[in-house]
Amino acid sequence: MTSDSSRRNDARSTQAPAVVTLAEKFARIDEYWSPKIVGELNGQMVKLVKFHGPFEWHHHEAEDELFLVHRGSFRMEFRDRSVTLRAGDFLIVPRGVEHCPVADEEVEVVLFEPASTLNTGNVISERTREALDHL
Ligand code: NI
Repeated sequence: MTSDSSRRNDARSTQAPAVVTLAEKFARIDEYWSPKIVGELNGQMVKLVKFHGPFEWHHHEAEDELFLVHRGSFRMEFRDRSVTLRAGDFLIVPRGVEHCPVADEEVEVVLFEPASTLNTGNVISERTREALDHL
């Protein structure tokens, strides 16, 4: 190993990872149902999204989705039941399961899912977001 690469490795190992403050990131989101990427690890994305109103029924063929509520609350509807998530709650929707988020008031949600996950799953609509911005 050359001294140059040793220095680079040292620099990398001692570099402090950036702290992400959710409140600051959410304050920059002014559009509903449009996820923003705030982190990436091991092929998974950490995304932030604001919901308001009903979304659309959809499912994801190959991906499980995690929804973690940061502020507010929303209802996740399934074909046979619905559950309410409040700040601090999370829910994992398994692949293949139809779901529809509904937020009576604005809610801030952290998503954890593969980079390939499309927000509207198997449905293409005006709410489909293919290329997500980074915050
Ligand atoms: Ni989904």
